[in-house]
Amino acid sequence: MYYSDDLIEEVRSSNDVVDVISSYVRLTKKGSSYFGLCPFHNEKSPSFSVSPGKQMYYCFGCGEGGNVISFIMKYENYTFKEALSFLADRAGIKLPEVDATPEEKKKAGLKSVLLDINKEAALYFYKLLKSEKGQRGYEYLKGRGLSDDTIKGFGLGYSSNYKDDLYRYMRSKGYNDDILKETGLFTFSERGVFDKFNNRVMFPIMDVNSRVIGFGGRVMGDGEPKYLNSPETLIFDKGKNLYGMNIARTSKKGNILICEGYMDVISLHQAGFNNAVASLGTALTPRQASLIKRYSDNVYLTYDSDGAGVKAALRAIPIFKEAGCNLKVINMRPYKDPDEFIKNLGAEAYEERIQKARNSFLYEIDRMKENADMDSPDGKAAFYMDVARKLLSFNDELERNVYIDSVSSEFFIPKEALEQSVKQQALTYKGEPSAKKYTEFEEKKHEKKTTEEKINDGVKTSQRLILTWLIEEPDIYGKIKGIIGADDFDDEIYHKVAQMIFEQLANGEKPTPAKAVNSFMDEEEHKVVASLFNTQLAEKNLDKAQKEKAITDTVRKVKDYSLTKAMNATEDGNEMQKLMMEQSALKNLVIHL
Ligand code: UTP
Ligand code: MN
Repeated sequence: MYYSDDLIEEVRSSNDVVDVISSYVRLTKKGSSYFGLCPFHNEKSPSFSVSPGKQMYYCFGCGEGGNVISFIMKYENYTFKEALSFLADRAGIKLPEVDATPEEKKKAGLKSVLLDINKEAALYFYKLLKSEKGQRGYEYLKGRGLSDDTIKGFGLGYSSNYKDDLYRYMRSKGYNDDILKETGLFTFSERGVFDKFNNRVMFPIMDVNSRVIGFGGRVMGDGEPKYLNSPETLIFDKGKNLYGMNIARTSKKGNILICEGYMDVISLHQAGFNNAVASLGTALTPRQASLIKRYSDNVYLTYDSDGAGVKAALRAIPIFKEAGCNLKVINMRPYKDPDEFIKNLGAEAYEERIQKARNSFLYEIDRMKENADMDSPDGKAAFYMDVARKLLSFNDELERNVYIDSVSSEFFIPKEALEQSVKQQALTYKGEPSAKKYTEFEEKKHEKKTTEEKINDGVKTSQRLILTWLIEEPDIYGKIKGIIGADDFDDEIYHKVAQMIFEQLANGEKPTPAKAVNSFMDEEEHKVVASLFNTQLAEKNLDKAQKEKAITDTVRKVKDYSLTKAMNATEDGNEMQKLMMEQSALKNLVIHL
C-alpha cells in the first residue's frame, strides 16, 4: 500500500459513485438506487445497480461489484494506483509522490516519457503521410480502399525513406539517446543511429486507453518482412494488448470479432464492424482472451481461411474456451481474409456470414473430418473415436448432451452409439483429467452438494443478509448487538468487513460500505465485498411480523453456526458448558423491530 487509508478514503468519498458511473453507463432512478445495463456482461434488461446511499455498485446478473475505485479499475482496465490517481485528478486532489520507491518512480517516469515519444512519433508519421513526402504511402492506403476518415481514425502514417529522419526529429525535441534506446524505434550501431521503420505505411498500436504503445509498419508492395513491428518495450507487451480494442470496447455490437491482421481490423471498422480486434503479429494469448472477455462473452473468430489461418484458429479455440467465451467461427471462403471478403462482397454479405458462423466445437469436428479417411471403415471408426474423445472434454453433462445431440445429427452418427463411445473413451483415458471429471460427474449425478457444503452456503448467505440489513437499516444494529458480532463472521473477507461495519455502528456512525472496499486490492475481492451489501431475501414484500421472523431466523442461523464451530474448537470444559447454554438459549431468541 502506497497511500494512507485516509487519503484513499478521501479520494473515494470525493467521487460520487453515481456521478462517475453515469458518465459510462446510462442510469435510471428506481427507488433508492439507479439501474442500467451492466457494462461487464451482456444483457438486455438492466440488472446493474448503483446505490448513492451505499456508494457502491452491484450487478445482480453477473455479480460484479465494488466502490467507485473498483469500477474505474475494472472499466478502464487500470491498476489500483492508476484508478486512484485518475479519481484524484477528477476530484482535484493532489496525490503525494513521496510514497513510491525511487525505482518505481523512475520506472513510472520512464513509462510516461516513452508514451510521449510514441505519441509524437505517431503524429510525426501521420503528418508525413499527409505531406508531399508521404504521397506514396497515402496513395498506397487509398489504393487499399481506406477513406481519409479511416486513416485519421486509426492514425495511420508513413515513415520516411531517409535513414534517420525520425531520430533527428526526436533529438531536436530534446530527447537523449538513453531514452530513445528504450523506445524500440531506432537501431543503435557503431555506424550510427537509424530509424527502425523506413519507407513503410505505419500502423500505431494503441492500448485500451488509446495510448500509442508501439507500431506496425507495412512495406508498400512486395518485400520482407511484410510487416515490421516494434519490439517489446517497457510499455509494449504484445501478449497483453489487441489492435483495435480501444475502439471495440465501446462498440454496441455485443460481441467481438477477432481477426489476424491490422488491415482486417481497419477494413471491418470502415465497413461498420467497429467491434473487430486483432492480436499483434503473434499467436493469441490467454491474457488477450481474458481482455476480450472483459468486454464481451461472445467472440467470433474471423481468421484467414488458408491453412495457416485454420491452424491458428484451432490453437485459439481452446484459449477462448478456457477464458469462458462463447465462440463461433466465421467462414470467409472463397476469400482469404475479412479485408478481401469485404472488398469483394461488402458488409451485408459479411453480416450474413456472422449470422451463419459455425459453433467452434463443430468447427473443430469439421476439421477433424477433413483429415479423416472417411472412405475406409478404419478411418471412419477412428474419426468417431476422436469425436467421442473430444466430447469427453465437456465437464458439464448438460452441455455434453447438447453437443452429443448436434454432433449426431450433423455428422449422421447414431446417438446411442456416440454415447456409448464417450463412455468407452472415459474408460480408456481413465487417468486423464477430462475422463476423471466425466466419471466423477456420472457418480455424483444424484448426490449433488454435500450436506456440509449446503449448510455453509446457507450460513454465508445469512451472514451477507445481516450485513446488507445493517447498511440499509442501521437501526437493526440496536436489536442484534450483543447477540451477533464481527467474530461470528469467519471468512477472512467477511470478518474484516464486519469488523469495520460493527465498529462504526458501535460508535454511532453511519456505516460506509464503500470504504470497506478500500481494504482490498484485488478486483475479485471487491466483488465479494459488494455481494455482502447486496444480498436480499427471495421474498421482497414482507410485513412487519414476517420481517421479524426472517431477521430472527437469520441471526439464529449465523450464531448457531458460529457457536458450533467454537464448540468444535474448544477443549475447555467450562467454555464448552457456556457455549452449549448459549446455543440452547438461541432457541428462544426473538427479535422485535
Ligand atoms: P497477413 O500476412 O495475413 O497480412 O498477416 P494481412 O493482414 O492480410 O496484410 P495485408 O492485407 O497483406 O496488408 C496478418 C498479421 O500478421 C502479422 C501482422 O500483424 C499482420 O497484420 N504479420 C504478418 C507480421 O507481424 N509480420 C509479417 O511479416 C506478416
Ligand atoms: Mn490481407
